[in-house]
Amino acid sequence: MRKRYLAVALAALLAGGSAAAREYRVGLLLPYSGVYAALGKEIQAGFELGLEHYGGELGEDTVTILPEDTEVKPPVGLTKAKKLVLQDRVDVLAGLVSSGVLAAVRDFVDAARVPLIVANAGNIHATGEKCSRYIIRVSFSNAQITRPMGRYLAEIGVKTVVAMAPDYAAGHQDVEAMKGAFEAAGGKVLKEIYTPFRKTKDFGPYLTEAQATGAEALFVFYAGGEAIGFMKQYASFGLRDKLPLYAAGFLTSQLYREAIGEPALGSVNSLHYLTTLDNPENARFQKAFQEKYGRVASEFAVQGYDAARLIVAALAASRGDKEKFVDAARTTTFASPRGPWRIDPRTNNIVQNIYIYEIVKGEDGRLVEKLLETYENEQDPPNGCRLAG
Ligand code: BEZ
Repeated sequence: MRKRYLAVALAALLAGGSAAAREYRVGLLLPYSGVYAALGKEIQAGFELGLEHYGGELGEDTVTILPEDTEVKPPVGLTKAKKLVLQDRVDVLAGLVSSGVLAAVRDFVDAARVPLIVANAGNIHATGEKCSRYIIRVSFSNAQITRPMGRYLAEIGVKTVVAMAPDYAAGHQDVEAMKGAFEAAGGKVLKEIYTPFRKTKDFGPYLTEAQATGAEALFVFYAGGEAIGFMKQYASFGLRDKLPLYAAGFLTSQLYREAIGEPALGSVNSLHYLTTLDNPENARFQKAFQEKYGRVASEFAVQGYDAARLIVAALAASRGDKEKFVDAARTTTFASPRGPWRIDPRTNNIVQNIYIYEIVKGEDGRLVEKLLETYENEQDPPNGCRLAG
């Protein structure tokens, strides 16, 4: 099933259009089914708002988006990427939620020389040893999110941690980065427990195993449907006081925080975006998103929004020339709801602040983020990537 959306530039409407106007095609590779379906839909919602806000910078030219469902399955993602590029002849690919799907499309995208703006998937290799000039990430890398959490845990005096995550690239990379920083600062990860990805419904045996380690704290990465299931079971096991929870912030994302409810309270998270960030761009973005969709925007919406704005800026600078598009996308920056950011020319990965926060109950009863610490301009090492500066 394919849906097509036409983002018509405001200027084109006012001018009544023109025969010379170009239609740019953006292939959106996102999960619309499976454990990350909600994330895919939220990224698209942010993307469409970004086109509404910034599409006018293209004058009479327009952007059409072609969404394809990756189903969170690497082979499906690759098939859809090939279809979008070879059959639909898209100018740009955007999206990708799962690190596994990003790994699957990497070689094809690189060989086809089609620009890919990554709007979620944090696979460190895509901007490390398997980096590509054509892959530019405006979301985060897995290590970028959890390395500060490892430092933070050591700073607050935690000595031992047990880690849990789904058994695929993102889970391993999130744990490894936290562990590297935590152990470099004197801590010890007593055990890493990996749960079958997309299949685990009962986290009970794994929570029992984690508790049996006697660790002072539990670190986890879970997102989407798995995050909701994990959090409810963590709470029903009565672990909040016995095994305090520290996590990559996708665990209690604004997107499904209300669905998790009270169990989210007290968890300490690290992420590149807080809904409550006090800057003019975030105020404008949240207001417009809430008016359009009737809910508070999450980090996934911000990623879609910024991806759309980056694509518009690069299209305006390149007008159909893919190499110029890449040059522009790698060097563009603008005020984002998340705060300051830039693309690292060594790796094409984003450099940005990472926030550590606790989930607390706000005055209106909503579950909100209470900022504890900011790690500024968090930047991954090149990890074997050799892109020219
Ligand atoms: C990933 O697979 O890279 C990922 C998925 C969901 C949230 C964050 C990262």
